Amino acid sequence: MTVESLAALRDRIAAGLRALPAAVAPEHARREAGLLLAALTGRSLAELRVPMHDGEVAPDALVARVDAVLSRLAQGMPMAYATGVAAFRHLELQVDPRVLIPRPETEMVVEHALRVCADRPGGVAVDIGTGSGAIALAIAQEGRFDRVIATDVSADALDVARLNASRVSGTLRCPVEFRLGADLAPLGGERVRLIVSNPPYIAHHEAAALPAAVRDWEPPTALFASDEGMARYAAIVAGAPSVLEDGGWLVFECDARRADRVAALFASDAGWRDVRVERDLTGRDRVCVARVEHRPGTSRSVSD
Ligand SMILES: C[S@@+](CC[C@H](N)C(=O)[O-])C[C@H]1O[C@@H](n2cnc3c(N)ncnc32)[C@H](O)[C@@H]1O
Repeated sequence: MTVESLAALRDRIAAGLRALPAAVAPEHARREAGLLLAALTGRSLAELRVPMHDGEVAPDALVARVDAVLSRLAQGMPMAYATGVAAFRHLELQVDPRVLIPRPETEMVVEHALRVCADRPGGVAVDIGTGSGAIALAIAQEGRFDRVIATDVSADALDVARLNASRVSGTLRCPVEFRLGADLAPLGGERVRLIVSNPPYIAHHEAAALPAAVRDWEPPTALFASDEGMARYAAIVAGAPSVLEDGGWLVFECDARRADRVAALFASDAGWRDVRVERDLTGRDRVCVARVEHRPGTSRSVSD
């Protein structure tokens, strides 16, 4: 194997990124190459800058990893799958094509979930469709719950989420349980204070309009839902009043184009209150929040 300095390796990565089918713009390629190298070495960009000037030799194992990542990227694989890591709030999660790559907008879903529960510590929170474990692990790390339950209909996804949980277990404030099953079924009637979910919400006929990196690599179970992308929302909203404690919250991520349809699901006579749609930083309606209030005699309250 030829000896290659870190600086030369970084230049080669930048050239590789510029040559991709979905090419990185030339003006960003060097920075992206630095970020990739930082992710693969576990070192900061600042740290990497110094030895590069000294011509530090890149270890063979790192060169081999870079080559493997560049070849996966050349096949169109998204960066997070190619490197195997994705950042989410304070977490570094392992990801592969068994799970959706956690998105920055989902970090805001966690923000709203933590905010609505902030004045009432304790209780159980459930993340329906946990994927990599992103939401469940973030709320276990940052929230004040007694326990978090993470569910998914995909056993493969739960394997990834369990692995991520074991890697960050020392940073979690409460235990996280993993349960296989659809919608609210894994709760088996157990009462919870918070339901949070980023369910699949893309309509099947919208597949062709998705970016190839999403359509060709991310798991269809994580993307698509029937009934114009509304099926999972409808199922969860219908069952939530009998699962949530009195005063408990439901927080959904939603597609900006369908946020009003998601909010309209709470118009039933099931005791929903404080229904609101929250915008992301670009002004798009991305989170729907609602609280349930049980009529006396219809359900157990928090103080029971
Ligand atoms: C959009 S992904 C969200 C993953 C993760 N929560 C995140 O935000 O990055 C949706 C997840 O829901 C799961 N899922 C799909 N249908 C489901 C259902 N009926 N019940 C529970 N989970 C489901 C998928 O397997 C996938 O992991």
